[in-house]
Amino acid sequence: MEKFSNDFGEVCFTPMAGCSAVVISHAMQIYPKYRGKGMSRQNLALRMSRAKQNGYGLMIATVRADNAAEQHLLSTTAGWTMAYAFKNPKTQADLTLWVCDTQVIELKGLLK
Ligand SMILES: CC(C)(COP(=O)(O)OP(=O)(O)OC[C@H]1O[C@@H](n2cnc3c(N)ncnc32)[C@H](O)[C@@H]1OP(=O)(O)O)[C@@H](O)C(=O)NCCC(=O)NCCS
Repeated sequence: MEKFSNDFGEVCFTPMAGCSAVVISHAMQIYPKYRGKGMSRQNLALRMSRAKQNGYGLMIATVRADNAAEQHLLSTTAGWTMAYAFKNPKTQADLTLWVCDTQVIELKGLLK
């Protein structure tokens, strides 16, 4: 597992067992004092650029269906698609599975 951070937040990457082209993005957060200020787009750019630079073709992430900010963020960012909605049998939480095709990411725009 790798952890990346910038001044505003952090995220972890874990390669998917059995397929070196896929990375799981998880434990993403904006540090509490920076939330609600639009910083999550910078954190998302960090995630996407690292995934592409590290040679992954696909990044996947689960997001709670009631996480309105993260749902909005991914649904309005090029490269991300909501692939599936399901219920966590262990917690009964409604979840969504998002995928990001790194081939369609323009690094130049992300890293400005
Ligand atoms: C979810 C989280 C990353 C969002 O970060 P944030 O700093 O609060 O959000 P931002 O201020 O950057 O807003 C991101 C976008 O969501 C929108 N947004 C924020 N709250 C929203 C809400 N309740 N409903 C709809 N959109 C919302 C913002 O308007 C912004 O959109 P825009 O860029 O198009 O204007 C942050 O709250 C967090 O770290 N939460 C705890 C951990 C977590 O939930 N991680 C995600 C796990 S998948």
